[in-house]
Amino acid sequence: MISPRIVVVGAGNVAWHLARRAHAQGLSVEQVFSRDPVKASNLATAIAAQPISVFDDLDVQADYYVLAVSDAAIGSVAAKMGERLPPSACVVHTSGATPLSVLQPHFERCGVLYPLQTFSKNREVDFSKVPICLETAQKEDYPGLEHLARRLSDQVYAVDSEKRQTLHLAAVFVNNFVNHLYSIGAALLNENDLPFALLQPLIQETAAKIQDHAPATMQTGPAVRGDQVTMERHRALLNTHPDLQQLYQFFSTAIQKHHH
Ligand SMILES: NC(=O)c1ccc[n+]([C@@H]2O[C@H](COP(=O)([O-])OP(=O)(O)OC[C@H]3O[C@@H](n4cnc5c(N)ncnc54)[C@H](OP(=O)(O)O)[C@@H]3O)[C@@H](O)[C@H]2O)c1
Repeated sequence: MISPRIVVVGAGNVAWHLARRAHAQGLSVEQVFSRDPVKASNLATAIAAQPISVFDDLDVQADYYVLAVSDAAIGSVAAKMGERLPPSACVVHTSGATPLSVLQPHFERCGVLYPLQTFSKNREVDFSKVPICLETAQKEDYPGLEHLARRLSDQVYAVDSEKRQTLHLAAVFVNNFVNHLYSIGAALLNENDLPFALLQPLIQETAAKIQDHAPATMQTGPAVRGDQVTMERHRALLNTHPDLQQLYQFFSTAIQKHHH
C-alpha cells in the first residue's frame, strides 16, 4: 500500500511526538500547522515537512489531517479547515475526552486516533508501545486509519467515543491524580529536608507490582489494615495542612470501603 500523506495540525506535545514518529516510520508528513510560525517551523524542520501558519496554505490533497490541538479548539479548528478542504478529506483528532461528534458537522470522513500516553516535548517515549485507540465515522475508513496507526504503534484498538471517554477518565485517575500525589509526597519530604529520591524505589515497585497482579490485591498500608493508631498519628501530622488531612481521610475511607 502507498504511504498515506499526512498533515499535522498543532505543534504541541502530541503533534511533536506523533509527527516525529510518523516520519521515523517512513510515513510522509507533508505539512505542520501552528498559529505560531516558529513552532510550526521547529517541528516541520525536524521531519522535512512544510511549516504553515494559515489555513489557506493547507495542502488540500493529503490523505489524513491529524488535529493535535487543545480539546477546546478542535471544533473551531475543524470548522475553519472545513471551509478549505474538499469533502473527501479525512480528518481525525487525538483527544481521549472529546467525542467524534465534534468533527461530524464539518467532515463526513472523520475519526479519532487517541494515543493513550502522557506526552511532553522534552521527554522521549517508546511510541511502538503506546496504545492507539481508533474510531471512524464511516466503517469504510477504519482499515485505512488502522493501517496508519499500525505503522506508529504495535498496540492498536478500536474504541468508540463513549468507551474512550471512560478510558480517558480512568487515565486521569491513574496518571494525573497519582502524579499529583507524588507532588504531595515530594512537598512533605521537602518540608522535612528529606530527598524525594527516598521514595523513588517505592514508586517504581508500586507500578511494577501491578504488571502481573490486580491493583486491588496489591493494596497495602494502614487503611486496608484498619490500623487506627497509625492513621490517627498521620492525621495529627497533617494538622497544619487541613486540605491534605481531608484528602488523607477521603482516601483512607475509600480504600476501606473498597476492601470490605
Ligand atoms: N499531552 C498528552 O499527554 C496527550 C495525550 C493524549 C492525547 N492528548 C490530546 O492531544 C491533543 C493535543 O494535546 P497537547 O498535549 O499536544 O496540547 P498542547 O501541547 O497544549 O498543544 C496544543 C496545540 O493546540 C494548538 N491550538 C490551541 N488552540 C488553538 C486554536 N484555537 N487554533 C489553532 N490551534 C490551536 C496550539 O497551537 P499553537 O501551536 O498555535 O500555539 C498547540 O499547537 C488534545 O486533544 C489532547 O487531549 C494529549
